[in-house]
Amino acid sequence: MKEYKTEIIKIDESLISDKNIDSLKQHPALEKAAELLQKGELVAFPTETVYGLGADATRLEAIKKIYQAKGRPQDNPLIVHIADLQELDKLVKGDLNLPAEKLIKAFWPGPLTIVVDKKETIPAATTAGLDSVAIRMPAHPLTRAIIEKTGLPIAAPSANKSGAPSPTRAAHVYADLQGRLPLILDGGPARVGLESTVVDVRKERVRILRPGGVSREEIREVIGDYLYEAQGADEGLENSSTVERPLSPGMKYRHYSPQTPLYIIEDEDFLEGLLHSNLQENTALVLSDEWASKYQSSLKGIKVINMGPRKRPDLIAAGIFQLLRYLDTLSLDRAYIEAIPENGIGEAIMNRIRKASSRE
Ligand code: TXA
Ligand code: MG
Repeated sequence: MKEYKTEIIKIDESLISDKNIDSLKQHPALEKAAELLQKGELVAFPTETVYGLGADATRLEAIKKIYQAKGRPQDNPLIVHIADLQELDKLVKGDLNLPAEKLIKAFWPGPLTIVVDKKETIPAATTAGLDSVAIRMPAHPLTRAIIEKTGLPIAAPSANKSGAPSPTRAAHVYADLQGRLPLILDGGPARVGLESTVVDVRKERVRILRPGGVSREEIREVIGDYLYEAQGADEGLENSSTVERPLSPGMKYRHYSPQTPLYIIEDEDFLEGLLHSNLQENTALVLSDEWASKYQSSLKGIKVINMGPRKRPDLIAAGIFQLLRYLDTLSLDRAYIEAIPENGIGEAIMNRIRKASSRE
């Protein structure tokens, strides 16, 4: 693999706003980013969800570089990012159905990715040979400026090493991928902190393949009965590692894994049990503000890491990947992390925590 001297360019956060997209396009850092992308090189940039590792989605050799730089399995397809609805026609085969149109209207630009039938414009390597393609229109002004400036659909997975927690800051990208790409744009911390929600809109009933920045409740509010609600044994089909071809291929891989063995505190009974046991010295508890203060007197002498307030799961989401990375700097023997309610953004948070903690 080619070795690069990776440059990080910080964009002044006061310049990053929706009404400033046109002048952002003139920024020297964006000139450079667009030039690299048009040459088939990789550029990492912030989006509102997590940092992405971008490349020209229509160009085979650029796509290969993404898989190489991340060490990503070849059968895990990429999301294609657009900045203009007109681009959709060039990528989608056939017509979008009603729920797809409603979802686009409600959540684009934003943290929602739709899986549709693909046209030939996108090479098979981008979609790992699938005849569908995942498409997202990001809301981040910098991402939009980059896409508009290149005039290209941009394929971008999260800009982490495959298997590591997704990057929510430029420093995370640098730590994982330094030397593997020429340029990282630093636009500050990602606002949402979790990846987009991936939905399959190819059938009349929409399936959530990966929970993310747009919650199930928000989707249900917009499309009602068009949302496929898994129940009982069906639940988690998409997450199963045993099915041959999961609907969203990425879901079968171990993800977001800190090196630190991580266990989930499912409820307060479990926490109380832990606190009454002899916790090994090199153990940390990751707790919400509420539980940390409720159990304060029993936590003396125990290392406690704060995950934020239970009543503000959006804040927990924004910090969770950073927290998983931080755990690994502490050389712990194990860590326990509090489970939060799985509604709203909590569903996506717990999806990532469970993946991070799955021991195989
Ligand atoms: O928020 C996000 O979605 C970020 C930012 C950079 O946009 N991107 C991201 O990409 O999370 P990645 O590659 O880390 O995750 C993409 C997910 C994977 O689970 C992948 O399997 C799924 O989307 N996916 C991509 N194309 C698909 C397709 N055609 N059918 C089903 N699932 C697909
Ligand atoms: Mg990823």
